[in-house]
Amino acid sequence: MSDFLMTRTLDEHAAETALRHDVLTGLTRSPKVLPPKWFYDARGSELFEEITRLPEYYPTRAEREILLERALEIAAVSGARTLVELGSGSSEKTRHLIEAMPALDTYVPVDVSESALKGAAQTLLAAHPGLRVHALVADFTKPLRLPESPGPRLVVFLGGTIGNLLPPERAVFLADVRAMLSPGDALLMGTDLVKDEAVLVAAYDDAQGVTAEFNKNVLAVIDRELGADFHTADFAHVAVWNREHEWIEMRLRARSDLLVKIRALDLQVPFAAGEEILTEVSAKFRQAGVRRELAAAGLELTHWWTDAAGRFALSLSVADGIGTDGREGRADGTGLTVPAPDTAA
Ligand code: AVJ
Repeated sequence: MSDFLMTRTLDEHAAETALRHDVLTGLTRSPKVLPPKWFYDARGSELFEEITRLPEYYPTRAEREILLERALEIAAVSGARTLVELGSGSSEKTRHLIEAMPALDTYVPVDVSESALKGAAQTLLAAHPGLRVHALVADFTKPLRLPESPGPRLVVFLGGTIGNLLPPERAVFLADVRAMLSPGDALLMGTDLVKDEAVLVAAYDDAQGVTAEFNKNVLAVIDRELGADFHTADFAHVAVWNREHEWIEMRLRARSDLLVKIRALDLQVPFAAGEEILTEVSAKFRQAGVRRELAAAGLELTHWWTDAAGRFALSLSVADGIGTDGREGRADGTGLTVPAPDTAA
């Protein structure tokens, strides 16, 4: 791997310290809550890959449809020489984009999983021998320092993962992304859209029970990492549509009164029968809301693409206030013409 560099911004103990903190604060408050990022150990990542192939889980297929349809347009509009991907995982969908970008010089995948980054880089470099890959082992919800690489940059955040952040967290995240962008750079973001409740709930409560197993995997992670004695069979998987906030909530519901011991925290956690842990929020969006949240972070929505069925959207946005130096256009002086936004929902 001649053109592969990796920068680690997480020390070895960062993940364990963060897990202890999240479990201690989340399970000693009411209602109980655990952040969704702890689903994704090796087993959880495997289960998520399985979810993306389920008949009920449409977002991955819908997003891939848009990427396949629009890759050349995205590549042309962005003119990107550097592609930054936040939460890159296996980089599977990004491949379509990379193949459409002949001018691409550097790919910067950002993920907390070093093994995922190495695997993805290996596959990409085999297919694109001239490509430079500079992987960042980092938590994308924290401000990032990107490596030196040629502009313009396209930052991509796919899968609808923005929906796992709560609105105030999204505001901070988008402002951090805005701070990474120079004139001429752009953000490509995937958002799942509001739709029929039955379709949404089925996507998070599939007939085969894969999502239930994925949800319960967070308990297995805590058992292993913190010496807890959760039994996954003591909890039921629950997926509900929150109409007010327009998000799916995944919860784990205690089937009986329980007392769970967490050795590494020297903690006993009582559960009343029926008590729930909120393990994930997955927000669904409308174009107006995406536009508003981007604008609040100093980003201007310029393109909006959906799949044919209108289930999922990719948005392209640029830093507003381009030309704060008194000029319009990119740092190199070539103008970036921004077409009028597509107003179709
Ligand atoms: C990968 C975070 C976008 O919220 O739909 C899938 C995770 N949770 N099934 C989502 C998930 C339950 C997924 N994201």
